[in-house]
Amino acid sequence: MKYDIVIIGAGAAGLMCAIEAGKRQRRVLLVEHTDKIGEKIRISGGGRCNFTNINAEPKKYLSKNAHYCTSALKRFTQWDFIELVKKHRIKFHEKTLGQLFCDETAKDIINMLLAECRAAEVTIKKETKVDKIWKEDNGSFTLQTSLGEVICQSVVIATGGPPIPKIGATEFGYKIARQFGINVIPHRAGLVPLTFEPDLLDYTKELSGVAIDPIHVTSESGMLFREAMLFTHRGISGPAILQISSYWNPGESITLNLLPDIDLMQWLTEKRQSQPRAMLHTLMHELLPKRLVQKLVDDAQLSQARIADLSDKILQNFSSRIVAWQVTPSGSEGYRTAEVALGGVDTHALSSKTMEARDVPGLYFIGEVVDVTGHLGGYNFQWAWSSGWCAGQYA
Ligand code: FDA
Repeated sequence: MKYDIVIIGAGAAGLMCAIEAGKRQRRVLLVEHTDKIGEKIRISGGGRCNFTNINAEPKKYLSKNAHYCTSALKRFTQWDFIELVKKHRIKFHEKTLGQLFCDETAKDIINMLLAECRAAEVTIKKETKVDKIWKEDNGSFTLQTSLGEVICQSVVIATGGPPIPKIGATEFGYKIARQFGINVIPHRAGLVPLTFEPDLLDYTKELSGVAIDPIHVTSESGMLFREAMLFTHRGISGPAILQISSYWNPGESITLNLLPDIDLMQWLTEKRQSQPRAMLHTLMHELLPKRLVQKLVDDAQLSQARIADLSDKILQNFSSRIVAWQVTPSGSEGYRTAEVALGGVDTHALSSKTMEARDVPGLYFIGEVVDVTGHLGGYNFQWAWSSGWCAGQYA
């Protein structure tokens, strides 16, 4: 079998690359080892796929090579993807913070990509295993697959990262990079629930279900996110915690400010003047959910306290527990529940224009397998679309 391009991995990046290469009249084979196309698209965004973010820009991405993603994000932007979604008359809405979701189902995005693949005459083979890839002396590649040998000019690795292995995620892309002498930056789970020691779980167990929106969460390196937080039976969770997990390293603490929009100490001091007879917990109900306030005043042994009776020092201690609450996670839930992998194929080895390996002409890496990881909120799909689109112009 001969093709111009073989793309391995029919996820977001692989589908986009296949469409673009097919439009250039390249003979494209897209192979997928599971029996499903775009499975992570289907399960994303709670089944509605947060397919991009109107605020997509390089500073929303982590990489050892901070500027690598700039070119691709500029050449195929969130607005280009939104145009495609509109062309297919898929209804969508902005949920929060620029995040765009399908109104109905993530399957609309998969069907859109499959329709574009059909129009571009892409051949898609599911349940196809690639056992070996090697480069011939004439520059072409031979792939040993479960369909037999396939010969092609370009190979695009779009196999994603290791999160959620039970739906087909593999480390295949890293293995191929190493085989061709390309460095792989050590990888780990990102956008992942953090785990906590039993003492925090004991503290928070009665608070399960309480949400605070927004909070500020800060990593030791100084990265700050303003997002919602949720108390759960597993400790603390929600978008704020997922976001900071990508910036957290084992042993480090994170700092939570549950009231980022006021100066709590000043507010309490003013209340002491204006409503001296008020109980502390009654006043705090103006600011935070009742169950949380109860826990905070009980913990500080202030459940019976009138604000007039509290010294500056007591108020200071009470307020710092709320605006500078330091928590040290014990770990993360890892790839079983992570949304993305941090690290991956070293971008220094790749062209930021074409995604081609500098020292291996014809070999391309796109999407999550590459050391580019977005924040929560549609940024990871945008990277998959942008990098896939770029490789599709050249492969
Ligand atoms: P992707 O993982 O999509 O595709 C890789 C494909 O390669 C898969 O089909 C896989 O089966 C296949 N493959 C792997 N090994 C292979 C091999 N050896 N041979 C052949 N095929 C192989 N992002 C976002 O922006 N908005 C969101 O709402 C969400 N939500 C979300 C929810 C959940 C639960 C997860 C796990 C992840 C998200 N993400 C997200 C992240 C997003 O899904 C992710 O960044 C992209 O899917 C990455 O696209 P890729 O095409 O690179 O990999």
